[in-house]
Amino acid sequence: MGKLDGKVAVVTGAASGIGAGISIAFAKEGATVVLVDLVDEAGFSSTVSGIVALGTDRYYTYTCDVANEEQVNGMADWVRANVGEADVVVNNAGIFIESSVVDMTSAIWDKVIGVNLRGTFLVTRAFLASMIERRGGRVINIASQLAQIGGTEASAYAASKGGVISFTKSLAREVATLGINVNAIAPGPIKTPLLDGETPEWRERKLAELPIGRFGEVSEVVPTAILLASDDGSYYVGAVLGPNGGDVMN
Ligand SMILES: NC(=O)c1ccc[n+]([C@@H]2O[C@H](COP(=O)([O-])OP(=O)(O)OC[C@H]3O[C@@H](n4cnc5c(N)ncnc54)[C@H](O)[C@@H]3O)[C@@H](O)[C@H]2O)c1
Repeated sequence: MGKLDGKVAVVTGAASGIGAGISIAFAKEGATVVLVDLVDEAGFSSTVSGIVALGTDRYYTYTCDVANEEQVNGMADWVRANVGEADVVVNNAGIFIESSVVDMTSAIWDKVIGVNLRGTFLVTRAFLASMIERRGGRVINIASQLAQIGGTEASAYAASKGGVISFTKSLAREVATLGINVNAIAPGPIKTPLLDGETPEWRERKLAELPIGRFGEVSEVVPTAILLASDDGSYYVGAVLGPNGGDVMN
């Protein structure tokens, strides 16, 4: 028996990093997983290989920009028609663009807020009405510990993730009595392609200030997602769980 047997889970940003890890783990727990990402079919191959290696074909891929309203609504309609109603939505797609505030173009600001915050809103809204109708569902938003502590040259990113946390708490209040649990995960620095973009100086400084003294693995974030998606997480409402190596201590 898996913790997510019979569930349909939609994971955005599923082609890489944390989203790939969550998707494979959800499939292992028995869910049918819809992998959503910007990439084309070939771009999903490493996540797909991970799922197929489990001996299951309970997955679908869908190319979609989470910041694009029309594409997101089309994706949700497609999921409903071809897979079924979504029980779990993981808003994981995210981008990080480094810039000091003084040098930041409005295009960078809009892009980061567009994917990380607007995307979280659009994808959630596209599945929410049917969760309300069915009186059940889980929404898991991937925030960041930088929302809690800020980050030099990371203001757009930190602001977007701060928005994700506020959105999570507000929506959690709106729908908790309707059987829908909305929570966030705010990871610390995790070894993924997103972190690979950081400079050696940044990595050195970050490692020195991290209480645990090392960057995290995707596998150290995934169990929190399983907790929040499964029956084990039934009493979490508007929580911000932090697998972060001690970067933020709540
Ligand atoms: N890696 C870290 O240190 C870290 C820490 C805290 C939070 N996070 C958050 O975790 C999430 C996953 O990050 P990751 O580290 O796995 O990064 P990643 O770059 O490995 O994966 C992000 C995925 O999102 C996809 N994506 C980007 N823009 C998209 C869009 N507009 N529409 C659909 N898909 C899009 C990318 O194609 C990619 O597959 C992000 O929200 C990130 O902000 C990461």
